[in-house]
Formats: sequence, structure tokens, C-alpha cells
Amino acid sequence: MKEVVLSGIRPTGQLHLGNYFGALRNFVRIQEQYRCYYFIADLHSLTTHPHPADFHANVKAILAQYLAAGLDPAKSCIYIQSDVPEVSELYVLLNMLAYKGELERTAAFKDKVRKNPENVNAGLLTYPVLMASDILVHRSNWVPVGKDQDQHLEMARVFAKRFNNFYGVEVFPEPHAMDFGSGSIKVPGLDGNGKMGKSEGNGIYLIDDEKTITKKVMRAVTDSGPTAPDSPKPDVIENLFTLLKLVSTPETVAYFDEKWKDCSIRYGDLKKQLAADICAITLPIRERILEIENDDAFLARVVREGREQARESAAATLKEVRKAVGFREF
Ligand code: TRP
Repeated sequence: MKEVVLSGIRPTGQLHLGNYFGALRNFVRIQEQYRCYYFIADLHSLTTHPHPADFHANVKAILAQYLAAGLDPAKSCIYIQSDVPEVSELYVLLNMLAYKGELERTAAFKDKVRKNPENVNAGLLTYPVLMASDILVHRSNWVPVGKDQDQHLEMARVFAKRFNNFYGVEVFPEPHAMDFGSGSIKVPGLDGNGKMGKSEGNGIYLIDDEKTITKKVMRAVTDSGPTAPDSPKPDVIENLFTLLKLVSTPETVAYFDEKWKDCSIRYGDLKKQLAADICAITLPIRERILEIENDDAFLARVVREGREQARESAAATLKEVRKAVGFREF
């Protein structure tokens, strides 16, 4: 039997090139070798009280973007977290084994308390329990997430082991971070920042049109140019070359590299090429996003099939969990 991979997607913001060449490419790549579950974490996002009027549209937008970028419902189970009540049931049960002290010590929780002291709700405190429920409800083995989720994942292992020990069962395997090593690429931002991110406002989004992309790239931060032949590239220029390497041919990269080395480089030319090559990759995805967003029947089918598969797997786990806890039929 295939090992199980699971990851949660926050229904906020738009996918940018950093996501595309990072997590998303890995999600897409592992779809054949593993039984993959990918879900939109809409319950998690309620901790910050999104407006009900925008909620559905945000979920739909992010789902369409992941589908357009290569998540394949024929290979993976793609679902909406709130469609699977077993997740919430497991969350209640795991909450009984999660201690206030350990939850309060979570770095992400402390961070949120510091930033939003007016909204320290219990959902925020028990965020790691809900995340553990997501993972454990399918008895997942691997979770492809970044370093920032290491502590949450460690807590999922703690809760899994604690449940097994407390009830003397072997219901949950210990989930581990799926490490892509050299396969995970860090995409730089356009502002000289080392990393493209949604909070940084330095990103190119899969939904951006040609004009927007060109404008953003032409405005990317550069310097006043190389001052001596063969000089090392400062970070802002290295960043542009890193982007170029991701989207352009090796010949194009070599061409501009030569131009840099002999000091004849014109950043305007480099940026024009970079913008064109980014567009060649993202514009077809943008087209698919718009197509999918307009295809309600397709989306409804994907979500329904995802829900059915996810609930089947989750129900099988909950059956064992309920038995372990001592629930019996009358
Ligand atoms: N906490 C994750 C994030 O902030 C999202 C998430 C929720 C998740 N549940 C998960 C990730 C389960 C992996 C597995 O990005």
C-alpha cells in the first residue's frame, strides 16, 4: 500500500512564483508515488474571523489556482476541510489529551498573541490540535511543509503517540516532515529581498496578466551596473539571475552572464527577457485558472469526489478511534 502524504492549504492570498517553484511543484511531483491528500484549511482560517461574504470566493479562488497549477483530482484526493466532519470530531477527542501549557508554549501561538492581543481565542490556542487532526485522520506518514511548521508537526507526533499510549492502541503512525532537500527552490523577490512572499508585496502571482507582470519586472530593484569585468554580482542582481534560471533557457542565462562579465549588460534588456519568459510559464496557467473558476460543474464535481474519498478514509480512522476511546453502540 502507498504511504500517505497530506498537506493543508490556507485559503488566503494568491499563489505566487515562490509557491509555484516551491511547495506546489513538489505537491504535483509526488502525486503518483504516494496516496496524496490536499485540502483547503478553511476551518483553520476562521481563527482570524474572515468575512462570511468573501469566504467562499477565497476558497474557490485558491482551489482553482492549485488545480490550474497541477494538482490532479484523478491522482490525489483534493477536498475542503470543513466538508469532512470527522476532522472536527477527532479534534474534540484530541483536545482532551492536549495540555494548556504545551499549547501556550507554541511559537506560532505566542507570535499571534503578540501581534493580535485583542483576538486570543481558543481556536488559536488549539490550532495545533486541529492540524494534528487533519494529519492523523488519514493516518498520514508524510507532511510536505516548510520549516515554519516543524513545531506543529512535532506536536502532531506528540498527540499521536499520546493517544496510542493512553488507550493502548496503535491507531496513529507518527507523521514526519517530507523533506525535499535540493528539490525545494527558494525564489527571490523583485525588491532585492531574498524571498518572494505574499506579505512582502514583492511577488509575481499566477493570476497576474502580462501587463502587470511586465510592469513588476521592469520595476525590479537593480544597481548602477558592474564596475569591473568579472566582478561578483551583488544580491539584487543575483536575485534577477536566479529568477532567470528558473524560467529561461540555459542559453539565455549564459548570454546575460557574459554581458555581466564584460560589463555590457543592460538591465532593461535582461528584464524584458525575464518578463517574457515568466509570462510564457504563467499566462497559460492564468488562462486555466480563469477557465476553472468559470466551470462551476467541474469544481462541484472535484469537491464532491474529494469529500467522498476523504470521508471514507477519515471514517475508517474514526471507527478505530471511537472504539479505543470506549464508545459503544447501544
Ligand atoms: N498550518 C499550515 C500553514 O500555516 C496549514 C495547515 C493546516 C496544514 N493543517 C495542516 C499543513 C495539515 C499541513 C498539514 O500553512
